[in-house]
Amino acid sequence: MLADCVARGTEQILRTCLAKHIKDRLYHCMTSSPDQLVDALKAAGEPTRLRILALLHRGDLAVGELVHILDQSQPRLSHHLKTLTVAGLVERLPEGSWVFYRAQSKGWAGRILAAVFAELDLDSPPFSDDVEALQQVRQTRAHSAEAYFSGIAEDWDRLRALYYPEAAIEQAILDQVKGEQFERIVDLGTGTGRMLTLLAPFAAESEGLDLSHNMLTVARANLNRGEIRNARVRQGDVTATPFESASADLVIVHQVLHYLEQPEDLLTEAARILKPGGRLLVVDFAPHDLDFLRESQGHRRLGIREEDMADWSNQAGLALQAPQKFDPPASLDQGLSVLIWTATRPANQQEAAA
Ligand SMILES: C[S@@+](CC[C@H](N)C(=O)[O-])C[C@H]1O[C@@H](n2cnc3c(N)ncnc32)[C@H](O)[C@@H]1O
Repeated sequence: MLADCVARGTEQILRTCLAKHIKDRLYHCMTSSPDQLVDALKAAGEPTRLRILALLHRGDLAVGELVHILDQSQPRLSHHLKTLTVAGLVERLPEGSWVFYRAQSKGWAGRILAAVFAELDLDSPPFSDDVEALQQVRQTRAHSAEAYFSGIAEDWDRLRALYYPEAAIEQAILDQVKGEQFERIVDLGTGTGRMLTLLAPFAAESEGLDLSHNMLTVARANLNRGEIRNARVRQGDVTATPFESASADLVIVHQVLHYLEQPEDLLTEAARILKPGGRLLVVDFAPHDLDFLRESQGHRRLGIREEDMADWSNQAGLALQAPQKFDPPASLDQGLSVLIWTATRPANQQEAAA
């Protein structure tokens, strides 16, 4: 029905259709105020904005990418995006000189959008045409991700050769989560999004955070290539995340701690965003003396000492277990051991006191 309205095209018809469709469902929504709801309906009830919402339903997009897909001017699209953001239907995620937009998936706005998307025939024009243009944008992303990686691939391969095969470490991570389903997984320092891909089958939703726009470009391309629909990434600092307290049941930190000046800040932040009873997985190098990694890879710390990890977890109120250790290949004179730690946020005060 809504697709017909879009095809017929007048704003008035579209608004009426949307309002009619959503009216029944409002009784089941916890909305913040009638004014807010009216603004949201007005914002969604415009053909271009509905197309923007349908595109964002498929993943986060930057303004420039929407300009390319919808073939409309940047000021015009920025105006539409502002309207959607102010109305609470869309979230604005600045990333360096870029700004990405994300359709809300939670709360009243998430429920309204879910109702709209359920009603739209997204396989018909104009939505299907937009999806074709979206594929081109994703290809461009994949090319810039490849270009970035071809610049650093040699350094990464050199590092990888120094430690236990990654596949075995990934298997150990999978062994930690097998048979479980998590509502929300957060990957701090997601880089290329490898952990999001690995853990996607175990999560209703997951989100990766990283400071580097280049890494996030690669992560988006990888998630798209792997057809991972339940994972998103956004820019941010792992020691001060934008995530709500007690919102994740699994947090993973894979090869990130050794980059940080104060890793304890990350542990405190992970404890904050974990739900009571939630779990933290940390994978990092054991202490080593390969000094060249400071220069060539930007490592701040030459591995993580077990005593430090115990202190940081204790300060953060997390219960840490002894790590699993993976020694480097025996063929190497100098290699790196990898440690996998598990820590849990106590489920209640008695558990915390124990
Ligand atoms: C070696 S990569 C690991 C990436 C990923 N976890 C993996 O194992 O494939 C380290 C990542 O941490 C990110 N990083 C370092 N410090 C950060 C910070 N303070 N906040 C967010 N990301 C950070 C880097 O940009 C980089 O992508």
